[in-house]
Amino acid sequence: MTFNLNEFLLAVSFAIDAVEMEILGVNSNHGKRVGYIAIRMAEVFGLSQEEIFDLLSLSIMHDNAISEELLKSQPMIKTMDNFQRVETLMTHCSIGEKNIRKFPFLTSPKSIITYHHENYDGSGFFGLKGQKIPLMAQIISFADFTDFLFSFDNQDINNREKIIDYVKEQKGKRLSPDIVEAFLENAQYISFWLDLQNHNINDAIGQRLPSLTKELSWYDIFQITDVFSNIIDCKSKFTQWHSIGLNAKASILAKHYGKDEEEQIKLSIAANVHDLGKLTIPNSILDKPDKLTKAEFSVIQTHTYYTRYCLKDIKPFNEITEWAANHHEKLDGGGYPYGFKADRLDFNSRMICCLDIYQALTEERPYRKELPHEQAMDILRALEKNGQIDSLIVNDIDKVFEDIIFYKSFYSPFSG
Ligand SMILES: [Fe+2]
Ligand SMILES: [Fe+2]
Ligand SMILES: [Fe+2]
Ligand SMILES: [Fe+2]
Repeated sequence: MTFNLNEFLLAVSFAIDAVEMEILGVNSNHGKRVGYIAIRMAEVFGLSQEEIFDLLSLSIMHDNAISEELLKSQPMIKTMDNFQRVETLMTHCSIGEKNIRKFPFLTSPKSIITYHHENYDGSGFFGLKGQKIPLMAQIISFADFTDFLFSFDNQDINNREKIIDYVKEQKGKRLSPDIVEAFLENAQYISFWLDLQNHNINDAIGQRLPSLTKELSWYDIFQITDVFSNIIDCKSKFTQWHSIGLNAKASILAKHYGKDEEEQIKLSIAANVHDLGKLTIPNSILDKPDKLTKAEFSVIQTHTYYTRYCLKDIKPFNEITEWAANHHEKLDGGGYPYGFKADRLDFNSRMICCLDIYQALTEERPYRKELPHEQAMDILRALEKNGQIDSLIVNDIDKVFEDIIFYKSFYSPFSG
């Protein structure tokens, strides 16, 4: 199938940016701004269309390991004043590089994420110096820290001048003379600055992005979404096995129903991305040990709206978007966010909905321990009796999962 990787990444970058906004305090559209600046710099350096395409992918995903790093180092980070310190942990670079190793890039970019915090003078995490730092890593590093320090969406003329002064001042220190020149070449155009504003950034990228696609199998696409399921699961320690667990169960149930391999993989993709919108929910709500207030629950209810918002423009994802984004809709119309009824909810949407509830009940939450199969089934049966979820699927979940013990390390049926 012909698949445009960057169409997918731009669609989901809204959710990744939400993580950086919460953890690092950067403004919205940070990943896109880094990407746009990178494209403009790459044009000056004369990179090929394929390289520019890959550079945009890498820019959007430069901090893909931030939530994972935060989750692993939480005991230490909690004692620090500011979550921004997670950016000072070099492991987010190596974990981030490892996470994208199966990405179907057009060229073969290596070590770009690993070295996205290197400085020209060797003062970065790994002490790499000068032109030993891959050019793409130099470009991303520049765009990343400059946007972090000054927010390119701030169009105040004083801010622009501050950025230009700072960049000149960093020549030979954090930045190579070539990077400084390439930036100044772009910075002379007013359009460059205007393109970086929040309401212009999508169009600006669209106009410059090389229209390249690649033939990918559904399995390749599944591997891409695996990176995002990891980001989503790492958002909170209580959900660290959620998408991957749902994926494993969706795959087993799909086999039980005799679905062909393509549909099985598509269901696993839907499971991987179903809670993408959760990346927009603050951890103060997700990790709250007490009952949520009405206002907090109304924030939680926004997450499937944003799952649909992210996925809706990815053309080959039409069915996957439905299955993923309908997982809190109920047959009687009492679900959210659209209140769809039975006639609008197809079999696979109903299946992901039932499995999502079962998966959540069998996981620990801040306010309760994980429930055993029988207790989870009691709750599913009560929902089924109320006409909220599909009785056939509830019966099959009981039959199929009754005797299965899920070992977390073997959760994903497709992940290698
Ligand atoms: Fe970073
Ligand atoms: Fe960043
Ligand atoms: Fe959900
Ligand atoms: Fe979920």
